[in-house]
Amino acid sequence: MFDLILKNASLPDGRTGMDIACQGGKIVAVEAGIAAEASEVIDADGYLVSPPFVDPHFHMDATLSLGTPRMNVSGTLLEGIALWGELKPIQTVDDIVARALRYCDMAVSMGMGAIRSHVDTCDDELKGVEALLQVRKQVKDYLDLQLVAFPQDGVLRDPTAMANTVRALDMGVDVVGGIPHFERTMADGAESVRQLCQIAADRGLMVDMHCDESDDPHSRHIETLAYETQRLGLQGRVAGSHLTSMHSMDNYYVSKLIPLMVEAGVHAIPNPLINIMLQGRHDTYPKRRGQTRVRELRDAGITVGFGSDCVKDPWYSLGKADMLDVAFMGLHVGQLSSRADMDWCFDAVTSNSAKIMGLEGYGLEKGCDANFVLLQASDKIEAIRLRAHRIAVVRRGKVISRSTPIEHVVTTAGGRRIVKD
Ligand code: FE2
Repeated sequence: MFDLILKNASLPDGRTGMDIACQGGKIVAVEAGIAAEASEVIDADGYLVSPPFVDPHFHMDATLSLGTPRMNVSGTLLEGIALWGELKPIQTVDDIVARALRYCDMAVSMGMGAIRSHVDTCDDELKGVEALLQVRKQVKDYLDLQLVAFPQDGVLRDPTAMANTVRALDMGVDVVGGIPHFERTMADGAESVRQLCQIAADRGLMVDMHCDESDDPHSRHIETLAYETQRLGLQGRVAGSHLTSMHSMDNYYVSKLIPLMVEAGVHAIPNPLINIMLQGRHDTYPKRRGQTRVRELRDAGITVGFGSDCVKDPWYSLGKADMLDVAFMGLHVGQLSSRADMDWCFDAVTSNSAKIMGLEGYGLEKGCDANFVLLQASDKIEAIRLRAHRIAVVRRGKVISRSTPIEHVVTTAGGRRIVKD
């Protein structure tokens, strides 16, 4: 007698007609034709079951704040940062908690299992940190929330940012963040990377920096991040987020840079929805796309996970916690159109991001946590094509979100027909 059996599922690796049995919050069998009884049986009807979506880059302290206190008129990163600076002093811990919890519910309904959220540490009251530590505890049974101490205004540029970032880590924030391209000078940017990586090494923590989110081809802080990673022995524990300047860099320089990143085992987190919106704003035409070199990074062996970055906040007005939207945009902007490339884009919002976050028990093998999402699609590519409807979301063997498959009743002169996605 199992807790849950999911019958007749297609799996991300292409197997079809598979059953998944869950007991005690774990997957205990993945095979065709499991005959045992279960407290709950779900018929997958041949649809795709995937491990949960994983968002490796988000800003939960700002989410769902759109329009408060005003809109971003220019649409640029810098006006977004200025607008966030206006919101910070007027929001309360309770405001941030309420918005974050609303977002977590939305994310769970979209099949999200884990989120890495940056939290701004340039605030002497550390309201965002206090709020998101509370949220992390409140949501832990249905969502893994990993927090990054993020000195939004520059850890060296803002006079109290370093002390506040260290204090946030002392309070229990998981990962060391940074924003070297926002420091006053290139030299200060490099120094911020050096100091922050040292803090991570001393404390045994991971690092995830907003790095070179700029159209300036000379913004090369990823080089310093790779250097410090290998110098301090942090291989596999460091990620560079955005890396948009790589789009505009000289090809010869990139031919040196990517092997340095490989040597350091640095992961890459592009944020396709936000950077296609924010980058190239100073260009006339041709207008740069501004997404980092996803194909080249991947082909070199670097783990690449797509992040969503923002939903309804000072930087981005849209979004609905849908990692398939993120994969869809990343695929287009990166021109990742072969069958193998499209298939990989699904991995970039699931298994690759789980690896970057260091999630344990992730996957659909026997012994993994019984966490998965049933999608109304036959395979990974169709899931991206349709931004497929989420039929059921399972966490530790229990259904935590459920909806009926979508079908449309079309009535025309030709008659009445049922059309499914
Ligand atoms: Fe970000």
